[in-house]
Amino acid sequence: MITIKSPANIAFIKYWGQSDTQAVLPCNDSISMNLSACYTTIQLEVHKDSTHKQLFIKNYKAADFVEDTGAAFEKVVRMYERTRQFLGASKEFGFTVRSENSFPKKAGIASSASFFSGLAAAFSTAFGESLDQKRLSILSRLSGSGSACRSVPDGFAHWRKGTDSDSSYAEQLAPPDYWDIADIVCIVNAEEKKTGSEDGHKNAQTSGLFPSRLRELNDRIPDLLAAFKDKDFSWFGSIIEEETVSLHAVMMTQKVPLYYWSGGTLNILRSIAAMRQQGTEAYCTIDAGENVHVITRKNDVKAVVKHVQTNKLAKDTIVNYAAEGVRILS
Ligand code: DP6
Repeated sequence: MITIKSPANIAFIKYWGQSDTQAVLPCNDSISMNLSACYTTIQLEVHKDSTHKQLFIKNYKAADFVEDTGAAFEKVVRMYERTRQFLGASKEFGFTVRSENSFPKKAGIASSASFFSGLAAAFSTAFGESLDQKRLSILSRLSGSGSACRSVPDGFAHWRKGTDSDSSYAEQLAPPDYWDIADIVCIVNAEEKKTGSEDGHKNAQTSGLFPSRLRELNDRIPDLLAAFKDKDFSWFGSIIEEETVSLHAVMMTQKVPLYYWSGGTLNILRSIAAMRQQGTEAYCTIDAGENVHVITRKNDVKAVVKHVQTNKLAKDTIVNYAAEGVRILS
């Protein structure tokens, strides 16, 4: 039995669009923080009978594990095959995977990032390999959920787009205790989104705004890195919010358009902007879903959570700080 804990991560600079869909190579670098309260715990039980393959999932706030025989199960089997191929392993084994999330899945909180990075660590360990961070990050990226590669290093990560499969992986930018900024996940809707990022990435380049987004990133990425280095929160926050709007402008102008935002999303964006006017600094970032990640400093967490709750802006809030990456617990 192998037990793995792996965090979700929130991107400050987003990954959107692929230069190589087969190798899962992104069109741009991305930068993220691992989340302390949003993680997946995976238990992998290995069987001698290689035909015995099962997946059980325990969803956020669910009482029990439920067997999944659908798309998620197929993806787990594909990840097993990919790991075997990546390692050049000849042995085969059967498995039972039990996966438990501390947060709602497929709601724009990178559940697939924590799941697939954890699965990469679990399967490679079961094949008897102890991968270094670079190789584990590459294998996690190859899962198809590219952002999984950023859940491998501890704390803050920089995924360099690279030029081929061996040069596209995430490295640590800073350890978790470098900066005590928080990500308050505001759950507007915990239901699963209808269009996953996989299809979204494929169509990114059909947006007329995509080339200008990439051009803007040539300045935005060095600016964000400089703001991070100086711990200049005002600069940092304004860049991440601008980046979010740029990402969603592309999503909304793709063919087929992706409208992830709901009225609830926009309410939070507006309300947090109003809070800023009154002196509490917080900024929003949003992934492929309608839930909002509000980034603020530790000293302002209580005020922001109270503001969100008092104004009934979210059904639930989850407070995260920077966390360690994938861990083999046993
Ligand atoms: C908008 O294909 O890595 O979250 O949808 O979780 O499989 P999953 O993720 P992936 O795309 C991530 C897209 C993003 C931006 C980001 O996290 O960088």
